[in-house]
Amino acid sequence: MSDRIESRLKEDRRFPPSKSFSDRARVASHAAYESMHRQSLEEPDVFWREHTTELVWREPWTKFSEWSLPTARFFVGARLNITESCLDRHLATPHRTKAALIWEGEPGDTRTLTYFELHRHVVRMAAALTDLGVKAGDRVAIYMGMVPEAVVAMLACARLGAPHSVIFGGFSSDALRDRINDCGAKVLLTQDGSWRRGNIVPLKKMADAALEQAPTIEKVVVLKRIGHDREPVVMKEGRDVWWEDLMERPASPTSVAHARKPDAFDAEHPLFVLYTSGSTGKPKGVQHTTAGYLAGVHLSTKYVFDLRDDDVYWCTADIGWVTGHSYIVYGPLSCGATCMMYEGAPNFPDWSRFWQIIERHGVSILYTAPTAIRAFIRAGDEWPKKHDLSSLRLLGSVGEPINPEAWMWYHRVIGAERCPIVDTWWQTETGAIMLTTLPGAAFTKPGSTGLPFFGVDIAVVKDRGEPCAPNEGGKLVVRRPWPSMARTLWGDDERYRKTYWDVIPDVYFTGDGSRRDEDGYFWVVGRIDDVLNVAGHRIGTAEIESALVSHPAVAEAAAVGRPDDLKGQALCVFVTLKAGKKAGRDLKDALAAHIDREIGKFARPDVIRFTDSLPKTRSGKIMRRLLKEVASGGETKGDTTTLEDFSVLAKLRTDEE
Ligand code: PRX
Repeated sequence: MSDRIESRLKEDRRFPPSKSFSDRARVASHAAYESMHRQSLEEPDVFWREHTTELVWREPWTKFSEWSLPTARFFVGARLNITESCLDRHLATPHRTKAALIWEGEPGDTRTLTYFELHRHVVRMAAALTDLGVKAGDRVAIYMGMVPEAVVAMLACARLGAPHSVIFGGFSSDALRDRINDCGAKVLLTQDGSWRRGNIVPLKKMADAALEQAPTIEKVVVLKRIGHDREPVVMKEGRDVWWEDLMERPASPTSVAHARKPDAFDAEHPLFVLYTSGSTGKPKGVQHTTAGYLAGVHLSTKYVFDLRDDDVYWCTADIGWVTGHSYIVYGPLSCGATCMMYEGAPNFPDWSRFWQIIERHGVSILYTAPTAIRAFIRAGDEWPKKHDLSSLRLLGSVGEPINPEAWMWYHRVIGAERCPIVDTWWQTETGAIMLTTLPGAAFTKPGSTGLPFFGVDIAVVKDRGEPCAPNEGGKLVVRRPWPSMARTLWGDDERYRKTYWDVIPDVYFTGDGSRRDEDGYFWVVGRIDDVLNVAGHRIGTAEIESALVSHPAVAEAAAVGRPDDLKGQALCVFVTLKAGKKAGRDLKDALAAHIDREIGKFARPDVIRFTDSLPKTRSGKIMRRLLKEVASGGETKGDTTTLEDFSVLAKLRTDEE
């Protein structure tokens, strides 16, 4: 789309919610939204008390918050077991027999678990984990695909107060090993393999390789998803146990009693550690706690998705990312929702898979990512057009800026111009949605991520924190702590403070650039730090670089992003070789395979370019800005006066990719 059309779309288009949607919506007008938002900031204790009554508190909170930045506590004095809000509370209501999860495997098998059944599985697994030695505070790693048992695994850990660390099934063994070692996990829950685009991802084999250098793991629980004929696995005596055996074998009576009536934990008890990329080579273990996180995801699920009892809600994210944590597990289950869950790829066996699932299960809310939407656009309208999508009533987008063209397609072809779209901006660190439009209360503008959610005091500021004028670009910051925010980085309070709270005094820095228009709507442009967003996956350039330089042929590497129609950003790396090493196709393949091994296939560079040297300042710093311009094929603009050797740049521009 040309810049002109894009900016016209940005300026002109406003889509108000339909009257029929607003009439039934939980928040039905802009005035209602504004008054709730104002109250959430001016009288937070009144607001949150009123909006958390559905949750199960064993001990009530005595004070809403306490902070001395960067440390903050919320719901001070409360004690709770988060799984009681997600499971037990539904058992005394008609939700007992309601579907909690409707699951479809990639080969086409399906399963439904009611709230009663999900509770029963979680209690059994919690008892089994207790027998394996898991206690409150122990970390448990989860390396699984999109199967219902992954949800059971997370909730069983939470029930015991054992923080889980879910590692996305697309990560390599080395990445798994590093994450297990960083948080010192005691038990690993995994499966023989999972289905992806008709192939088997051999999770247990990868886990075995990781565990050769992960001494803290004492026990491994293995779910049989694929079966021995297709994916034989070796069980290590004394360490590995089958999931199925644990579920069938009676657990000890004390463990069962304890799992049935679990302990209550302090509001600030750690719930999970989730690794995400930052601006150094070492991933950050983002740590969330219990009550604030629950309150944030509960409230946002209820209001942003305007959730109703008869909805079939489908968030297409993977459980390995924060969207899966907040909007497949804790948010929707705490609301008693029916969640669709799908194991495999969106284009398997063909591009109609998502639309088939919506038709088959009557999905009413679809929450997906712009990169998927762009891939569907490319595949063609004939796929969704073959299916009855009339059950849909609300659409959501998350993970990266959605270009207005993709927004319009989503609105027209999937939403039949009937469904509001909620574009939700948030991060692993924020725990819950921070910016969006409430679907019955506000008009949407294609490409804008809307207004602050309840409890969120967010702004666009200049480098030293002065506010930007309307439409002036700046840094996106949050001006006061909010309940679902990350409390620290696992084992590294100092890095937490430096990364988020020290960049601009007294506010949380998101790492994103944005502007806010004259209506107060936010337009997030993306990361302004050394983090890329490739197909909705967050990848640190330093992580890629340190993986590349660990290859014996590589002397130096620089990773940058360039705009990409499908993935949002594509990953380009520039590599210099050690003396005597030969550039060529074989080495490119070897480097790509090396990244697969070190991080995972999803982080494979789109472009690898060999060069004799990298453009550097006189003080030896790589000039990434220039590399970005070279990678984008554009003219190198801006200041090059500090460049050490101009011929480097000239050569890079003329080199073949
Ligand atoms: O740059 C923003 C982008 O994704 C980053 C957060 O990535 P992650 O922690 O992996 O969480 C992804 C799912 C919440 C942000 O810093 N981002 C996320 N949602 C949007 C977005 N950018 C623009 N619009 C969004 N709706």
